[in-house]
Amino acid sequence: MAHRVTLSAFLLNERRKTPALDPALAGLIKDIEVACKYIAAAVSRGKLAEAKASTRINIQGEEQKPLDVIANELVLQTCESCEHLLGVVSEELEGPYPIPESRDGRYLLVYDPLDGSSNLDLNVTVGSIFSVLRAPEGVKELKPEHFLQPGVSQVAAAFSLYGPSVMLVLTLGRGVHGFTLDREVGTFFLTHPDLRIPEDTREFAINASNERFWEPPVRHYVEECKLGKSGPRGVDFNMRWVASMVAEVFRILIRGGVFLYPRDTKDPSKGGRLRLLYEANPMSLIVEQAGGASSTGRERILEVQPTELHQRIPVILGSRNEVERLVRYHQAYDRGEDLSFKSPLFASRSIYKS
Ligand code: F6P
Repeated sequence: MAHRVTLSAFLLNERRKTPALDPALAGLIKDIEVACKYIAAAVSRGKLAEAKASTRINIQGEEQKPLDVIANELVLQTCESCEHLLGVVSEELEGPYPIPESRDGRYLLVYDPLDGSSNLDLNVTVGSIFSVLRAPEGVKELKPEHFLQPGVSQVAAAFSLYGPSVMLVLTLGRGVHGFTLDREVGTFFLTHPDLRIPEDTREFAINASNERFWEPPVRHYVEECKLGKSGPRGVDFNMRWVASMVAEVFRILIRGGVFLYPRDTKDPSKGGRLRLLYEANPMSLIVEQAGGASSTGRERILEVQPTELHQRIPVILGSRNEVERLVRYHQAYDRGEDLSFKSPLFASRSIYKS
């Protein structure tokens, strides 16, 4: 049998590198690994797993699915004995949850226990998303503001996929690595070392049913993709929409692409659709670590200063050249420039041509 690297062996190897990986952080990653195995088992049981969960409307105003509740509990139960964790924030909890067994609480965990859960009834891939932050020094009593750190402060980010195979994609700030669960032995093995996102792409992902609410730069971008060979880009594009961010980001890590959940006017009280702390930030770190880019259209997501735990934000991420193109379109629009195809901006020799 070919030599296979387990997640534990990978973490041990990372600990030998310079700068060495904090053993406490490695321990937390192993707890995340265990939680993902439990969640994978529950998700694969589908309806059979749902009986015991009582659901409600969560803090987002969204109706929980039984598996949202189960997955949230599984992460909490796994992390409750983690002595290096000070507290957690979850999509399914209103406020921070202090870890009772915490002795040396130097880390904070922020997570979405089951991303894309509207897909559960359809048996389509869902996943969990994790962001690890350092706890401010000397903190005794956990407060929401301890979690309000910009994405550049993350020390690790990960997401899992519960699909045809179970995967864990991880960054510790030195590249992005994918692990696949061998269900027969119950172990994650390194199967996708050093994932890199191609700089160019001909594939985009957006929920086109929201088109009437988009801003002109996004409308323009999507329009030119749809015009394909006969439009200003001169090449045909492909479109995908899984409605599971974890699945979309994994596709982008494998073959490139751009994913957009942009600012829109559908509900002006929300700053966007996706949540900054446990969706946009960890996914942006992973995408940047794999050579891609991530922006709101106007700002690098990882530099946004959070103001609320469940804050929403516009997200444009993926292949670097397409994200940068979208940023240029936003800049042009904000300068009051004409984004119609009649505009000289889109003439054959303009900076907007590829
Ligand atoms: O925020 C959760 C999420 O399910 C993402 O995983 C996904 O990208 C998006 O929402 C789907 O949105 P929509 O319901 O508009 O397709």
